[in-house]
Amino acid sequence: MDVPKELEKVIEITREQNKWRRTETINLIASENVMSPLAEAVYMSDFMSRYAEGKPYKRYYQGTKYVDEIETMTMDLINEITPSKYSDLRATSGTIANAAVFRVLANPGDKALITRVQAGAHVSHTKYGTLGALGIEHIEMPFDVDKMNVDVDKAVKMIEEIKPKFVVLGASLFLFPHPTKELADAAHSVNAKLVYDTAHVYGLVVGKVWPNPLEDGADVVTASTHKTFPGPQGGLLVTNDEELYKQVSRTIFPWFVSNHHLHRLPATAVTAIEMKYFGRDYASQIVKNAKALATALVERGFKVIAEHLGFTKSHQIAVDVKNFGGGAKVAKMLENVNIIVNKNLLPYDLPEAVNDPSGIRIGVQEMTRYGMKEGEMEEIAELMKQTVEGKNPEEIKRKVLELRSKFLDVKYTFNVDLKSSKTIPLII
Ligand SMILES: Cc1ncc(COP(=O)(O)O)c(C=O)c1O
Repeated sequence: MDVPKELEKVIEITREQNKWRRTETINLIASENVMSPLAEAVYMSDFMSRYAEGKPYKRYYQGTKYVDEIETMTMDLINEITPSKYSDLRATSGTIANAAVFRVLANPGDKALITRVQAGAHVSHTKYGTLGALGIEHIEMPFDVDKMNVDVDKAVKMIEEIKPKFVVLGASLFLFPHPTKELADAAHSVNAKLVYDTAHVYGLVVGKVWPNPLEDGADVVTASTHKTFPGPQGGLLVTNDEELYKQVSRTIFPWFVSNHHLHRLPATAVTAIEMKYFGRDYASQIVKNAKALATALVERGFKVIAEHLGFTKSHQIAVDVKNFGGGAKVAKMLENVNIIVNKNLLPYDLPEAVNDPSGIRIGVQEMTRYGMKEGEMEEIAELMKQTVEGKNPEEIKRKVLELRSKFLDVKYTFNVDLKSSKTIPLII
């Protein structure tokens, strides 16, 4: 039989995606990253076809001895690098990790305090998303736009007055560490728990450039495994609280996942090992690059948020692009020259502005992983300036391709020969 047209189409789309986003674009989406070739190699394994409901060594299926081994090893590695006492990797995304935690901590009708939506609360923290699906009411904590952070004094008062079941810190627009200690103390004084969502910054926590929320009093930390932590798409949670851990573990399965997509496990383990050895260098270069890009953009007339605070302590910067036509228009113009960012609400936008907010959000973690440093940030800023000024897009795109072509290999990983006879049986 001839190869059907639709099959050819699937292969062609996949090939085009790989070529475009892997080799031709400057990827600055703050929630994305790339795995190393090593992690990708172990990702493509027989684990992807298997089931292992339950916890290691207590499964509802046979044939899971290697799943048990790799899952236990990965949990141990995560506990070592966070550091934490207990971890669970079965949430298939950060949202699912949040769902399991929120479900344990509150019942329908209960209240949770979250950061302000425009200031970066993730949809899963809100009544529009996971919290709403669980029937838990969200109440936004006051935000201090000048400090680009939760307003500590007002939030403490609010916690004492409202007595929520839990407080959520962590955000999707996340420039500065949230005041964990103060809010954890306030939460604990009214018997509430503090959940800290490190989806964006987990790699920075592991790399020791962002505080470990567990050390500052957070009861449980959730994360994605694919943003600043450059692993396969997935979720995790860590805690030092044994009782809470047991409750959440009983909730992830069977309430939120059945099969937990086992091919994530060896790839997450490889990434955890890479982060154990290279995480500090990688994370500190990320923050240096974010600051360098912000500075270079300001020098070129962009309004980068929080200049008076040094712009950022994370992988992200936020730019107010109202003067250049707004977030939607600028993100589109940049995509047109192969620079990929997303439009983003800024804390002073109205929530209704979500489709055309004032800002764009930029994350440098992926380009840092490909080895870019401060000099390249300067070049990117220049290309962005030329783009918003309406200079010839074809000419700018050519320069983008040229810059990107010099950064195609993932750094901060081990140089293992995947074709050697020892390693090839790993790869299907
Ligand atoms: C703060 C925060 N939490 C949770 C998530 C959800 O993560 P996932 O996409 O892994 O479900 C995101 C996604 O970007 C996020 O920004």
